[in-house]
Amino acid sequence: MNIIELSNLTFHWPNQSELTLNIPSFTQKQGSKLFIKGPSGSGKSTLLSLLTGILSPTSGCVTINGTDINQLSSNQRDRFRADNIGYIFQQFNLLPYLSVIDNVILPYQFSSKKTLSIKELRIEATRLLTQLQLPASHFNKPITDLSIGQQQRVAAARAFIGKPKLIIADEPTSALDHETRFAFIELLMNECGNSNASLLFVSHDPSLESLFDQSIDLRELNKAGGIS
Ligand SMILES: Nc1ncnc2c1ncn2[C@@H]1O[C@H](COP(=O)(O)OP(=O)(O)OP(=O)(O)O)[C@@H](O)[C@H]1O
Ligand SMILES: [Mg+2]
Repeated sequence: MNIIELSNLTFHWPNQSELTLNIPSFTQKQGSKLFIKGPSGSGKSTLLSLLTGILSPTSGCVTINGTDINQLSSNQRDRFRADNIGYIFQQFNLLPYLSVIDNVILPYQFSSKKTLSIKELRIEATRLLTQLQLPASHFNKPITDLSIGQQQRVAAARAFIGKPKLIIADEPTSALDHETRFAFIELLMNECGNSNASLLFVSHDPSLESLFDQSIDLRELNKAGGIS
């Protein structure tokens, strides 16, 4: 079974002269850990937005865990994303007026999974944040009081809450120092292993590449014209 299947996928940003992406075919196996690299502007974040249904393709299909996500209504797609995908954005998308813990547990509350109570969710959020070495004194602070590296770790904890089948991470280690980067990768690998989640990890950092089952340069997949 594949966690991701792409077929004849194209994407054209309205104000760009050429296609940004043209991927005839691509699959990622369930449970595998994939590293995607490529220069700045090569379309990595655009691809991730298509995988999560934040963007819709110009043509072609995106199938996640057996579901063609563009056949879903936009409400169904939001629910599908909350149920199946943990996404660590390049720009964390944390909500500034919420506390650290409330940011972590927020996506689960959009999910149709209702197995954890709010109390259990808070315990799980605390476990994840502790493993990511965020000081407990920060847990109830507003996000805006945290450094960028600390916010990155909150964004990671948020992606793991509720044990989604697919974790997508866009440059998640760029603001971390050596030690927290290691703790971050360790948590990522452990969490994915524990829940048999698949991992798609985008990074410029070649020192991380060897930790993954497979590494792909987006330029090998992408048949679109040039980098604009
Ligand atoms: N919101 C947007 N509107 C129009 N064009 C966009 C938009 N976002 C990205 N692009 C264009 O799409 C192309 C790919 O951008 P994308 O952000 O996917 O690259 P990337 O590989 O993630 O780069 P980086 O490594 O810098 O994050 C670029 O040419 C960019 O100008
Ligand atoms: Mg990007």
